[in-house]
Amino acid sequence: MKTLIGSSLAAFGAALLIAGMLAVPGTAAAQDGDPELGKRLWLTTANCKDCHGSLANGAPDIAQEPQGYNLRETILTAEEMRDTVRCGRIGGLMPYFQSSAWTDRAPCYGMIAADIGNDIPDRAERMLADRTLNALIAFIYRDFVGVALNLASCTELLGEENSRCNAFR
Ligand code: HEC
Repeated sequence: MKTLIGSSLAAFGAALLIAGMLAVPGTAAAQDGDPELGKRLWLTTANCKDCHGSLANGAPDIAQEPQGYNLRETILTAEEMRDTVRCGRIGGLMPYFQSSAWTDRAPCYGMIAADIGNDIPDRAERMLADRTLNALIAFIYRDFVGVALNLASCTELLGEENSRCNAFR
């Protein structure tokens, strides 16, 4: 009996392993992204900080932009966050960042553009590919979500001399 259970467990394990290996690239879980790449993007070309602030605390870097949420206090799961960035927020000012979002290839909240009409969120200025999207999400969860904003975390992100960290000195 013992060996029977043992061998069926082994078979189950093998099946899981194979399923993992067959997973389609691009559908990899959000948290599989490269957080170091995400950090570089956050600090350079990704414009999230225009609205959410460099420190992701909801104080926009660009005063004229809509105020984004404080990402440090989000209660979203990584997958929910990925969908928010991919698709934007219906009825909010968060734009969508995936070029195929709202199409049959990558529906959003169960809908495509034709279903939602004029209520579709704005299109972001610069789109994110799967790799860069997942990298940003991985970085946001590593360095922002649930991470206290203080002198150490500020200078770790922006560098010792950054004047944005003066508030914590
Ligand atoms: C044009 C301004 C703007 C830009 C650019 C922007 N956001 Fe947002 N974002 C918002 C606003 C405004 C909200 C609040 C949405 C609402 O009104 O429901 C939001 C909400 C969010 C949320 C939901 C948080 C929660 O807890 O519900 C996430 C996650 C998010 N943004 C991530 C990002 C990321 C990552 C980027 C960059 C790739 C980005 N945003 C770029 C304005 C922006």
